Amino acid sequence: MEFKKLNNNEKIPYISYGVYEIKPRKTEKAVLNALNAGYTSIDNAQVYYNEKEVGEAIKESGIPREEIYLTSKNWVSNSGYEKTIKAVNKTLQDLQTDYLDLLLIHQPYGDYYGSYRALQDLQKEGTLLSIGVSNFDSARLVDLTMNFDIVPQVNQIETTPYFQQYESSEFMNKLGVVHQSWGPFSEGLDKLFKNPILLEIAEKYEKSTAQVILRWLIDREIPFSCKSVKTKRMEENIYIFDFKLNKKDIEKIRELDRGKSPFIDYNDPETVVEFNEEII
Ligand SMILES: NC(=O)c1ccc[n+]([C@@H]2O[C@H](COP(=O)([O-])OP(=O)(O)OC[C@H]3O[C@@H](n4cnc5c(N)ncnc54)[C@H](OP(=O)(O)O)[C@@H]3O)[C@@H](O)[C@H]2O)c1
Repeated sequence: MEFKKLNNNEKIPYISYGVYEIKPRKTEKAVLNALNAGYTSIDNAQVYYNEKEVGEAIKESGIPREEIYLTSKNWVSNSGYEKTIKAVNKTLQDLQTDYLDLLLIHQPYGDYYGSYRALQDLQKEGTLLSIGVSNFDSARLVDLTMNFDIVPQVNQIETTPYFQQYESSEFMNKLGVVHQSWGPFSEGLDKLFKNPILLEIAEKYEKSTAQVILRWLIDREIPFSCKSVKTKRMEENIYIFDFKLNKKDIEKIRELDRGKSPFIDYNDPETVVEFNEEII
């Protein structure tokens, strides 16, 4: 697996297997299949409600813990210093581990300042190797970096051909925060896998459009978390290191950028209410 270096000299794998929206009863099998297919990194979150099953799958796989990169995310209702410490301990227990490779603040809502203080302390004691945030826009990110000693190692944000995030990416690079993509396929919305521009590039390299999308992220040096519950697609999605897009391909894909998410607006009060109301 290829890695990107983080600002604390730790690293993050370019490819992670995401377990969002995989039902608990299906998670263990999906994760075992992903590990068998060659994934070495699992992207999890408290609000995915399947951390226990991920922990079981890892135990069942027999793969040594240090050979797997584990990420989780602290949910809004667990924000604040004390609650974050408690929630991270529960995550560790559910995942059957005594450390995480990466812990992110899942959303820029609630007392995330308190949470970040907790993350810093947990990192100093070695429980969290790397820390970061998710869904933070540039303004919130710079504010956080100006008020803490530790610059977040990662900001995981939606990054897809529909929402390419060039400006945010450049800004994160300047701050020394690694940009990680979530949902690179936009869940296949608006026939993304059949998009003519992606199909043309895919044909040229004899790859699938899914592989072109993931390779496009690698060529932009953006690690990502992607998901399939189908074994064949899991394999397809990691078989992307035998080709490379050129500048022209990347320029072509740029035409698909809508400049905003097809799913969510983090500045919409309704989003803020919805996420604050999800109590876990
Ligand atoms: N930080 C955040 O707030 C946040 C938010 C959302 C997601 N995430 C992370 O990002 C991960 C990925 O996002 P996601 O799960 O929403 O969606 P995604 O990976 O963008 O897309 C998943 C969809 O694409 C399909 N798919 C996958 N590979 C394919 C292929 N090769 N060909 C055709 N279809 C394919 C899957 O169907 P099948 O399963 O049927 O193959 C599924 O419907 C999550 O699991 C999570 O780890 C983070």
